[in-house]
Amino acid sequence: MSRGLFISLEGIDGVGKSTQSDLIEQYLLGLGRKVVRTLEPGGTELGQEIRHLLLHRKGDVAPRSEALLYAADRAHHVATKVRPALSRGEVVITDRYLDSSVAYQGVGRDLNAEDVRAISMFAVENLLPDLTILLDLEASAAMARRKKSGAEPDRLEREKVEFFEAVRQAYLAMAAAEPARWLVVDATQTVEQMQQQIRQRIDQVLASF
Ligand code: TYD
Repeated sequence: MSRGLFISLEGIDGVGKSTQSDLIEQYLLGLGRKVVRTLEPGGTELGQEIRHLLLHRKGDVAPRSEALLYAADRAHHVATKVRPALSRGEVVITDRYLDSSVAYQGVGRDLNAEDVRAISMFAVENLLPDLTILLDLEASAAMARRKKSGAEPDRLEREKVEFFEAVRQAYLAMAAAEPARWLVVDATQTVEQMQQQIRQRIDQVLASF
């Protein structure tokens, strides 16, 4: 049986994570792997309810409450979906994981990034991805793409460009601090160029198992 492979995609809203996730899934299916595609918040039934509270409920959510709700979603997601799939030897591709909390709640919201990381690590019993892919784009460019898509913004997407630029810088700092886990992909490239870079790194990770 193959060893499970855990991949997370990160980046500010509007950088094209789902397009790249689709292509990663196709690639790994082509290698004969079983693939579970998932997301945070909302990768489980309970998580869908938490997602609704976080993104569509009217009224403010206190920053610590927000951080704990994301962590609650993540704890259930990892325990009931991610770990079981990995222990069956499958590939798990998640659109966002704990680095989203560190970047959005830890830095964007001005909580202590170390505290936010600590509650997430508690939530997931220290499970980190084998590979975290950061799709990097300036906040103003990502916002322009989002507007063009015409989608109705959720509660977080109504934040200002400065918020997203702070989140972006938090991601870049995390990637620089832990290069063995992270791959930074310049999201101004074409979809194909980005995917080629990602596939090369996936091959390297698989070869290292
Ligand atoms: P998502 O559905 O991935 O939005 P998008 O498709 O635009 O990337 O995520 C919803 C929002 O939740 C997104 O604005 C980022 C935010 N978020 C956090 O603030 N903290 C977290 O821990 C996670 C997982 C998401």
